[in-house]
Order: sequence, then structure tokens, then C-alpha cells
Amino acid sequence: MTASPPPPADGPPALTPQATQGHDRQVPSEPVPVRLPQRLSAQASRWMPEFWRRWADWVPIRPLGRRHRRRIAQHLLSLAERDRYLRFGYAARDEQIQKYVDGLNFSRDEVLGIFNRKLQLIAVAHLAYEPTPQIKGRPAMAEFGVSVLNAARGRGFGGRLFERAALHARNRGIDTLFIHALSENGPMLAIARKAGAKVERDGSESEAWLRLPPDSVSSHVDEALERHMAEVDFQLKRHLHTLGNFIDGVAEVKSKISRKASGKSAKQ
Ligand SMILES: CC(C)(COP(=O)(O)OP(=O)(O)OC[C@H]1O[C@@H](n2cnc3c(N)ncnc32)[C@H](O)[C@@H]1OP(=O)(O)O)[C@@H](O)C(=O)NCCC(=O)NCCS
Repeated sequence: MTASPPPPADGPPALTPQATQGHDRQVPSEPVPVRLPQRLSAQASRWMPEFWRRWADWVPIRPLGRRHRRRIAQHLLSLAERDRYLRFGYAARDEQIQKYVDGLNFSRDEVLGIFNRKLQLIAVAHLAYEPTPQIKGRPAMAEFGVSVLNAARGRGFGGRLFERAALHARNRGIDTLFIHALSENGPMLAIARKAGAKVERDGSESEAWLRLPPDSVSSHVDEALERHMAEVDFQLKRHLHTLGNFIDGVAEVKSKISRKASGKSAKQ
């Protein structure tokens, strides 16, 4: 009876620490492939495509807070009438949108945003933890709502916000993510279906339910990592933006000075 399993009959012996250090064992004279790295590389080759897919398509999603209220309002107010209708289920007027934004509860809910390089808020998602009174006997739910500016659509932002909201809800112990959408809202229902949600159509309205797996160490690490990376991305954009403004400012001052100088020389 041994503590370690015997080497496979058809393969080379495993290179154990004893085999490399001990004198009473025969050290293979030829280099032999080391079994552990082989196994690891087999695992890595399965894992790497997923890893690269994830980071190649990575979208920086930032949690938004009270200080972003004005920008959230700007984003929603810039939606066309039809998009307001799809987002809220009715053609929300400016005052109704403003009231919705003023009523956002940032300590209870999660509001997520995507900023472009010019620091414009191009997408906003709202994960509401008490959308309707929680029904007794039903699993804990959160409701998801999202909007992406017209020019930024079809690039996966809506889907990414949905995934991120699902991760957040899962880490808060929520069982089910709920989406209320108009049946004509193909893109929203496509996002929900793709994530595995069950979609129930009731005439012009549809409801989608996504059961979430329980949280795990990895789901918490994923969320923390995403949050951190998005913050780094935002700060980088902010510095570039400031630098860009500074360079523009310097160029403007230079052109004013040269205009003044040329005006003076023209007078002389
Ligand atoms: C719904 C919305 C957020 C989607 O944003 P987006 O960034 O374009 O979404 P994505 O690019 O992640 O995904 C869109 C998916 O819909 C699919 N799609 C696009 N048009 C479609 C249509 N007419 N019918 C069905 N599916 C459609 C796309 O192919 C894509 O699926 P894929 O990833 O499998 O290719 C955006 O259209 C929007 O802001 N709409 C107005 C507000 C709204 O409707 N909000 C949802 C209600 S809560």
C-alpha cells in the first residue's frame, strides 16, 4: 500500500521530488515530460478560450451612485419617444423621467452604467430589489431595466449589463431575475432568452424569469474584479479626458497669442 498512485504502465514515470533528489532511486537520464504541467496545460487549453473570450469582449461597467443622478437623467431624457415607451412600458414624459431618476434608491438598488471615452453615459441598467411586493412563497426577486443609446446598440452592452446585474443579484442571495418587457421588444427578449430566461408572453406584454444559481466564492471574486477593472478604466478615461482638455486649452491660448501678435504687426 503506497500513499501515491503507481505510475501508469504505458507512460513514463512521474518526476517526483524524491526522484530528482534521492540517490537510491534511478533518475531517468533522458528528459521526460512532466505529467502535472501536461495536465495543467490540457486544463488551460480548455479554460483559456473562455478566459480570452471574456476579456477580449470585456465591457467596463461601473456602479452609479447619487452623484450620477444628473447624468442618468440626461441619458434617459435623450431617449427617443419609442425607446422611452420600450424602457418604461409607456411613452414617459420628461417630468416622469425626472421623477423616476429623483426616486432612485441607490442604497437599496444597483444602478450600473457604461461610459464611453468622452465620459458620456451611453448605457444605464437598474436592478430594483423591491419592484413589486415580494410575493409570499415565491423566490426572492429583483427586476431589471436597461437602456442603451441608439448609436451604441448592437455591440453587446445590453447583454453585458444583464449578465452583470445577474451576478450582482446572485451575490445578494436573489433567486430570480425578472424582466418586464413589451412583446415587441425583440432585443430585450433576445438578451433574456440568451441568458437562459423563461419568457412568458401575455399579449402585448411579456415577462421573463431567470433563475440564478447560488453565490459562490468565485462569483464574489468575479464581481469584485469587474468592479475594480471598471474603476481603473474610468480613471484612465478621466485622465485622458483632462489631458485632452488641457492640450485643447494650450492650443487655444497659443492661437490667441499668435492672432494678437499678427494683429499688432499688421497695425505697425
Ligand atoms: C434593449 C436594448 C437595451 C438592447 O441593447 P443592445 O446593447 O443593443 O443589446 P445587445 O447588443 O447586448 O443585444 C441585442 C440582442 O438582440 C438581438 N436583436 C436585435 N434586434 C432584434 C430584433 N428586432 N428581434 C430580436 N432580436 C434582436 C441582437 O441580435 C442581439 O442578440 P445577440 O447578442 O444574440 O446577437 C436597447 O435596444 C434599448 O436601449 N432599447 C430601448 C429601451 C429598452 O427597450 N429597454 C428594455 C426594456 S427594460
